[in-house]
Amino acid sequence: WSLDDPHIGDVLISEADLRARVGELGAAITKDYAGRAPFLVGVLKGAFVFMGDLARAIELPVAVDFMAVSSYGSATRTSGVVRIIKDLDVELEGRDVIVVEDIVESGLTLRYLLTNLASRNPASLAVCALLRKPDDGRGDLPIAYVGFDIPPAFVIGYGLDVAERYRNLPFIATYREDV
Ligand code: PRP
Ligand code: MN
Ligand code: MG
Repeated sequence: WSLDDPHIGDVLISEADLRARVGELGAAITKDYAGRAPFLVGVLKGAFVFMGDLARAIELPVAVDFMAVSSYGSATRTSGVVRIIKDLDVELEGRDVIVVEDIVESGLTLRYLLTNLASRNPASLAVCALLRKPDDGRGDLPIAYVGFDIPPAFVIGYGLDVAERYRNLPFIATYREDV
């Protein structure tokens, strides 16, 4: 990426702000799950950067696994259909599961995942989402840990893409389509 890229708009959340907030989320999880070993389920691909930083901010013996789910594909709007592309490698029976998402927008992806994962009988099931957009009708999904509530702009970076680009921006920025 390059800061000269005209599609990269305003920096919404800086690298330093991300580091600080992810540290706080890790500390909260460390406290809440003391004595347990959380099983972090990262939602590919968007959550891969957040997952790496969050896991290292949790001072507990975590395990990590990933699911690949896609509802957007290459489009900037949801298709309304959630597909599992890669499932977990292990069963969740008796585990303290924390779903790790980069962003919750319509809630379609998360709603599908929570129903799906709950049916696997985990000991507990919680969500840690870095970003949450305003609730425009998705209803109340239980999200125990939220990094930032952001305005309804299209955002990129720190895992979030447009057509697979910009995932490696170290900050969150708005995406400028009309340039
Ligand atoms: C994005 C994002 C979330 C989901 C949020 O994933 O990473 O997983 O959409 O949107 P929703 O709340 O409206 O369901 P995407 O489907 O783009 O796949 P990706 O993570 O591989 O980019
Ligand atoms: Mn995603
Ligand atoms: Mg995407």
